[in-house]
Amino acid sequence: MRSQRSTLSWSSFWITGASSGIGAALARRLSRTGVTLYLSGRSRERLEAVATDCRAGGATATVVPFDMADPAARAAAIETILAADPVPRVLVNNAGLSQRGEAIETDVSVDRTIMEVDYLAAVELTKAVLPSLIAAGDGCIVAVSSVAGLAPVPIRSSYNAAKAAQLAFFGTLANELPGTGVQVNLVIPGFVKTAVSMNALTGSGAASGVMDPNQSGGIDPDAAAADIIRGLAANRRRIYTGMTARLRFMLVLAKLVPRLLDRILQTSEVR
Ligand SMILES: NC(=O)c1ccc[n+]([C@@H]2O[C@H](COP(=O)([O-])OP(=O)(O)OC[C@H]3O[C@@H](n4cnc5c(N)ncnc54)[C@H](OP(=O)(O)O)[C@@H]3O)[C@@H](O)[C@H]2O)c1
Repeated sequence: MRSQRSTLSWSSFWITGASSGIGAALARRLSRTGVTLYLSGRSRERLEAVATDCRAGGATATVVPFDMADPAARAAAIETILAADPVPRVLVNNAGLSQRGEAIETDVSVDRTIMEVDYLAAVELTKAVLPSLIAAGDGCIVAVSSVAGLAPVPIRSSYNAAKAAQLAFFGTLANELPGTGVQVNLVIPGFVKTAVSMNALTGSGAASGVMDPNQSGGIDPDAAAADIIRGLAANRRRIYTGMTARLRFMLVLAKLVPRLLDRILQTSEVR
């Protein structure tokens, strides 16, 4: 069922990946409405900097740093959040790690880390908060996926797989929750100007350190945050942001002529 909200009415948000990029921009934007924010990521220092901005903006902000790749750390973070706020109304599963390296040269530990951070952690956090949202009859689960989950772009095999898994899981969850008062929204960013490509893992697990021209030419994270808030307010199942004509064309090909897309993706220019 589609909500008719024109603005977000929820008062409490748990945002993962809030220490930089899209998550930090979303936190800063939401803080203008005086909400309560729980901000997660690994870097306490960068989370504190975002939290300081959010408090100045009018929000109550608490940092809950943890490594999403570590199941024990995830469990402890869930306990901390639920002790502080038994019903965090909105969970934004935004933390993500991209990849740069062909599958053959990527250590399986890298595949595992990306799957933990981009997919399994989001599933686990969601299952932890969902019962309280259903009991309250109100809430929102957000998964920040990617165009990568819709097209097999080379040198990102695990990232593409994790983002596709996210789309499948949260798309299914959305179809299981009608009538509960809980909405599920999938964010599909194209190119947003963040450090995502620099933080992407290479085959050895080291950060790539390279800013892709696609990211440096992408939209500002604050513009992506504004798109996300608008999409949540309208309860759009898929919220696209940072899309270019080329990306839209790629998604049309992925749906209608996948073999042609494969041929295009096999050329080196798109890497
Ligand atoms: N920017 C784009 O063009 C684009 C396109 C498609 C999809 N996306 C998706 O958008 C989301 C946000 O990315 P971004 O572009 O804002 O990139 P970013 O600036 O690199 O942000 C990634 C966030 O994820 C957190 N994170 C990474 N690994 C983590 C871990 N092991 N444990 C806990 N937190 C972790 C990072 O925090 P710490 O470093 O503090 O751990 C950071 O806050 C990601 O899911 C990404 O896949 C982005």
